[in-house]
Amino acid sequence: MCGIIGYIGNNKASETIYDGLRRLEYRGYDSAGIAVVDNNQIICKKEPGKLSDLKNLLLDTFPSDSTIGIGHTRWATHGRPTTFNAHPHGDCKNSLMVAHNGIIENYIKLKKNLLAQGHKFVSETDSEVLAHLIEEKYTGDLKQAVLDALHEVEGAYAIAVIHKDHPDKILCARKNAPLLVGHGTNENFLASDVTPILPYTRKVTYLDNLEGALVTKDSIEFFDLTDGTPLSKESVTIDWNPVAAEKDGFPHFMLKEIYEQPQVIRNTIGGRTSEEEGKIYLDELGLTGPEIYRTQRIIIVACGTAYYAGCVAKYLLEEMVRIPVECDSASEFRYRKPLVDQNTLVIGISQSGETADTLEAIRLAKQMGAKVLGVVNAKDSTMTREVDGLVYIHAGPEIAVASTKAYIAMLTALTLLALMLGKIRSVLTPEYVKEKISELKVLPQKIEQILENTKPIQEIARKYINAKSFLYIGRGVNFPTAMEGALKLKEVSYIHAQAYAAGEMKHGPIALIDDKMPVFAILTKSDLYKKTLSNVEEVKARKGTVIALASEGDEHIQDVADNVIYIPEVSEVFSPIINAVPLQLFAYYVADFKGLDVDQPRNLAKSVTVE
Ligand code: G6P
Repeated sequence: MCGIIGYIGNNKASETIYDGLRRLEYRGYDSAGIAVVDNNQIICKKEPGKLSDLKNLLLDTFPSDSTIGIGHTRWATHGRPTTFNAHPHGDCKNSLMVAHNGIIENYIKLKKNLLAQGHKFVSETDSEVLAHLIEEKYTGDLKQAVLDALHEVEGAYAIAVIHKDHPDKILCARKNAPLLVGHGTNENFLASDVTPILPYTRKVTYLDNLEGALVTKDSIEFFDLTDGTPLSKESVTIDWNPVAAEKDGFPHFMLKEIYEQPQVIRNTIGGRTSEEEGKIYLDELGLTGPEIYRTQRIIIVACGTAYYAGCVAKYLLEEMVRIPVECDSASEFRYRKPLVDQNTLVIGISQSGETADTLEAIRLAKQMGAKVLGVVNAKDSTMTREVDGLVYIHAGPEIAVASTKAYIAMLTALTLLALMLGKIRSVLTPEYVKEKISELKVLPQKIEQILENTKPIQEIARKYINAKSFLYIGRGVNFPTAMEGALKLKEVSYIHAQAYAAGEMKHGPIALIDDKMPVFAILTKSDLYKKTLSNVEEVKARKGTVIALASEGDEHIQDVADNVIYIPEVSEVFSPIINAVPLQLFAYYVADFKGLDVDQPRNLAKSVTVE
């Protein structure tokens, strides 16, 4: 999704902005641009393409040493990726520039009025109306013009605005799209997320909805967008290490993030358990004992990989807390007239905390009286500010578009939650919780064992790079593992992959089996092992090819499957956490061997902040 960065200080703006745009690449984009104010003139360069191809235009030959500017990476929604559609967008007189994330929903009406007033448009975007609207309102006071323009706008926006007559300020504002400012020394920043400014400052202030900021080299003034009154806002210090946002010697962020997973689990668990007492502490949970007792139903809402983490959590929560749990795609939940009341706990799961459908789903649940809990990675994201309670997953910045470490961290955090709620509701004994805490703590070592030798997975991946389609099958708590495995393969390798509950094979998918369609079976040790094994035997009987994910020591499976990936044995409740790792590696290597852009797969965005 689109990214914004703004800089004002003593350094060459185009250099800082280009560096920031590079750090925003992970969000997915198809064009990029930079605009600066130089000698009371606007200078803007923008083009479709990847930043590596635009380096000459935006960095090496950028025709200005100005120290104030804004930049944008665009992910096309309204209008194709072209030079004219790229941001920043200017007005008729080239006096101002706007970078915008979000969607202006009433742009057609606004554009019609502006055209009637004589404005000339050059792009097909909704965003360009903002530049003309501000131009129309401008009488010398940039802040007032931005306020007046935004009053006419419906939809979602994070914007950054510069004007040729104001070489000392950048205006920014937000509504339903993330935006923050970064406090430096003799320099200040703004950005759509923290990644691009981390190398320069750790001190940031997040804007809330309908808030704006006037950013100069030495000051940042916050104001209310409804009437422009000043606001006083707290800053926070981000403890994410900037090095964590770099590739660290790995060829791709995705691989680096897969390898970070043992540490991520340790971080997620860190300081939240007492093995002696069999207790879990989730400090920001925000639920009282009576609220936990009163809960009669849990509904989980999320999108993409977070949704599959929710599907795993359904099994864990039902088993450990004995409360009925539904897991719904946020985009379905918000439009299906759901049944929610004060005794329903709604859990939103999101890496970014900015996914539009998930945010709308939790807003709806809140309106209907539910308590809402967020299971979130990005600190101070929109979701964290709208929920009643939180469980941070502590995965750190995830850069690759295809989510890996955030998934593992979500599963770990949700396991802690299930153990805690189960204990409080007296479903689980302290002994059980103690046992599970100690098992959880050795999980990172078991994952390290997988990561120490990925050769077998690489060899199998190489064999299947030309496959056209895959089936993934699993049962019980590992049915969602199959779904997540199929999603990973689709996302990064562009091979069609579909997941089925293994017990459904006879009801349709078995008709697809031939020697050309590999079946990836999750066959690690579980109570349902024999059931899944018989599904695999049915596949073999029809000349199908099977890749089995099995627990070490399972020799029988070698006689049945064509390829076996062995992993250390863990108890079934934790198996989705460890089982996800070889599936991620398999998808990664297939994509890498195919020579694909693993970190930024075509058409995908890291954070889907529009519907
Ligand atoms: C996009 C990303 C996925 C992610 C999903 C939900 O589709 O490409 O990797 O799982 O959004 O994102 P969230 O930030 O809410 O977890």
